Amino acid sequence: MHLQGKAALVTGGTDGIGAELIRQLRDKGVTVITSGRDPARVEATRAAGFEVVQADLSSAVGAAALLKAVEGRPIDILVNNAGSGADHDFRDPGAPDMAAADACIFLNLNAPIHLIAGLMPMLRSRPEAMIVNVTSGLAIAPRAGGPVYCATKAALRSYSQALRVQLKDTPVHVLEALPPVVETKMTAGRTNKKMPAAECARQFVAAMERNADEANVGVVKLLQVVNSISPALARRIMIRF
Ligand SMILES: NC(=O)c1ccc[n+]([C@@H]2O[C@H](COP(=O)([O-])OP(=O)(O)OC[C@H]3O[C@@H](n4cnc5c(N)ncnc54)[C@H](OP(=O)(O)O)[C@@H]3O)[C@@H](O)[C@H]2O)c1
Repeated sequence: MHLQGKAALVTGGTDGIGAELIRQLRDKGVTVITSGRDPARVEATRAAGFEVVQADLSSAVGAAALLKAVEGRPIDILVNNAGSGADHDFRDPGAPDMAAADACIFLNLNAPIHLIAGLMPMLRSRPEAMIVNVTSGLAIAPRAGGPVYCATKAALRSYSQALRVQLKDTPVHVLEALPPVVETKMTAGRTNKKMPAAECARQFVAAMERNADEANVGVVKLLQVVNSISPALARRIMIRF
């Protein structure tokens, strides 16, 4: 995709990978609208010159509010980046937080589907358009401690693969972006080697520019190779993380 002059809606651009991505897209000449939830981060992103819609995407109300805010605006690129890792582990004492699990499922899976459905007429009307769904290396094989998060990412991966075939003869390209462990607040408690968010965003942008089907970022490339040879081995490696 030729990025210069395009207009993008990037969810979750107020922090982490999304915050780096909106800056890099702007540097490429893209007009960016983004969204976030935390008021202070929304304000900071506005102060950096971005148009930001405040919306909590963990419910249909928030997804509808975001769609309403961009109604009628030309949009060539939709990046479903906002996501969270809220999860539960039945090996720990106590009952799982079902409200948190439901919110995670909506944010990571339902909201992208709502936004895709809402923006599809606009995207299909553009000469060249793209949907970028941010999943995870964990969409390929889950880790034991994150069954809800991993299930949402595997589901969004599956959705992206089917959508790509449906849209094959339209101007809308579907890119799935699969980050490794990246240095953001989402991974604050993790001790794994982490990729800087700016480098992850750089690899997303490069994949957008070459119209790739997948941006397998960093060590996810290796995971894809292992998985193509032996899915059982890939699962054995990932389940421990
Ligand atoms: N970091 C990693 O290692 C990693 C690895 C694989 C995949 N990913 C995926 O990459 C994407 C970005 O992750 P990140 O690490 O950059 O996360 P992050 O630093 O926590 O930032 C997430 C962004 O999404 C927004 N967001 C979170 N919950 C939201 C909600 N309920 N409604 C609306 N916006 C919400 C946040 O806004 P607020 O701060 O205002 O809530 C923030 O702008 C996610 O889809 C994540 O699953 C990350």
